[in-house]
Amino acid sequence: MASRDRSAPGDGGLGRRGFLLGGAVAGAGALAAVGIDAAVSAGATDAVSAAPLNGDVVVPFHGAHQAGIDTDAQAHVSLVALDLRADTDRDALRRLMRLLTDDAVRLTRGKGALADTEPELAVSPARLTVTFGFGPGFVARSGAAAPAWLRPLPAFTIDRLRPEYGDGDLLLQIAADDPVTVAHATRMLLKDARAFATPRWVQQGFRRAHGTTRPGTTMRNLFGQVDGTANPLPGTTGFDEVVWSREGWLTGGTGMVVRRIAMDLDKWDRLDRPGRDQAVGRFQSTGAPLTGTDEFDEPDFAAKDAIGFPVIPEFSHVRRSRSDDPAERIFRRGYNYDDALPTDAVSDAGLLFVSFQADIDRQFVPLQRRLDELDLLNEWTTPIGSAVFALPPGCAEGGFIGEGILS
Ligand code: HEM
Repeated sequence: MASRDRSAPGDGGLGRRGFLLGGAVAGAGALAAVGIDAAVSAGATDAVSAAPLNGDVVVPFHGAHQAGIDTDAQAHVSLVALDLRADTDRDALRRLMRLLTDDAVRLTRGKGALADTEPELAVSPARLTVTFGFGPGFVARSGAAAPAWLRPLPAFTIDRLRPEYGDGDLLLQIAADDPVTVAHATRMLLKDARAFATPRWVQQGFRRAHGTTRPGTTMRNLFGQVDGTANPLPGTTGFDEVVWSREGWLTGGTGMVVRRIAMDLDKWDRLDRPGRDQAVGRFQSTGAPLTGTDEFDEPDFAAKDAIGFPVIPEFSHVRRSRSDDPAERIFRRGYNYDDALPTDAVSDAGLLFVSFQADIDRQFVPLQRRLDELDLLNEWTTPIGSAVFALPPGCAEGGFIGEGILS
C-alpha cells in the first residue's frame, strides 16, 4: 500500500501541531523523522537511547480551530457524550466549559488537572487532544441560535439505532497514542463535569498503535479494507472548505457526525476476495481502485470490462459515496471498535464512523441518503448509533471553548 506524503500537516508524531515536552529537540525531531529503525540500522545506538518518546509529544490545545479534527489521528479514542443536569443553566455552562478547558489545557501539556489525584498518569500526553462538541440541548440551554442542521439525523432505512449509543448534550472526544493517557484524561474530565452533567454513553475506538506502520499510512478497518484514502488532506484549501464553518459563532468550528456502525465479520468471512473488492470498488490488498494499481490512483468510473459492465460496480461503496456534486464532501476520521463477545458470534466489531463537515444537512445527509438507497456494503454493515454535534472554534490562551456563546 502506498502512503500519501503527509509530512507537512501530520507526520504521525511531530506534525504541524506537535512539539516535544521539554523544548530542546531540534535534533530529536530530525531523529523522529528518520525513524528509530533507521537509526538502529545505522548502528546509532546512543542516538536511540536518546530518541524522543512519542509519549512526550504535545499537540497544542490553543488555536483558531480545536485540536483533534485536523490532527493526524491518534491510536486511541474515547468518545463520551454527557447529558446536562436539569439545573445546569447558562452561568453553569460557562463555569463547566472554563473548568473543562482548563483541565484539557493542563492534560494536553502533560500536567495533572487541578486536584488531580494521579498526576503521575498525566506526564505522557502522547499527542493527547480533547475536543468539545455541543449537542442541540447544550446550544438551546446557552440561549444561542443553533445551526439548522444541529438535530438528530433523519431516519434511514438501514438504521437499527440503539438509544444507548445516541445523541447527547456535550461530546468529549479524547484521543491520544496511549490508552492510559486517554483513560486518565477521561476520568479527570468526567470528575469535573459531574456536578453539571452525567455520562450518557462512552464509545472507545482504536487504530494501529503508534510506530506500527509508517506515518501517513491510511488506516485499515476490521474488514481489512484500507479506509480513508479519498479524504480531504488537512492543511489544504480543499480541507478547509469541507470542514470549517463560516456561520456565526461556529466560524472556525465544524459539524460532527458520530455513527456506530456494526460490521458483521462472520458474514464478511463468507465472501470471497473478488466479492469483497467489488463491494467496495477497491482492492482489499492495496486499497487501489479496481481500475488502478496504486492506492491513490483516481477511480475510473467510466471504464468497462470485456462484456461491457463497469469495472467499478455502480452499486459499490466508492461509486455510491462519491458525489458528482463537489459540495457533498466530508472528512472521515473514524476508529475501529471491538467489544465484548456476544454469545452467538465470534465478534462484536465495527466502525466508530466520525465525519467532520461544515454543514451536515448539505454535505453529509445527501451522501448517507444515497448509501441508504443502495450500497453493496449495507449487506454487512448496520448503523446502531447516531449523534450530531456542533464543534465550536478553538480559543486563545486564557480563553475557553464555547466562549463565543457563553461569554
Ligand atoms: C462500516 C461502514 C463503512 C465502511 C466499512 C466503509 C469503508 C470504506 C472504504 C473501504 C472506502 C474506500 C477507501 C476510502 O476512500 O476511504 C470508503 C470510502 C468512502 N466512504 Fe465509506 N465506509 C463505511 C461507511 C460510510 C458512511 C456511513 C459514509 C457516509 C455517509 C461513508 C462515506 C465514504 C466516502 C465519502 C468515501 C470516499 C468515496 C470517494 O470519493 O472515493 N462511508 N469507505
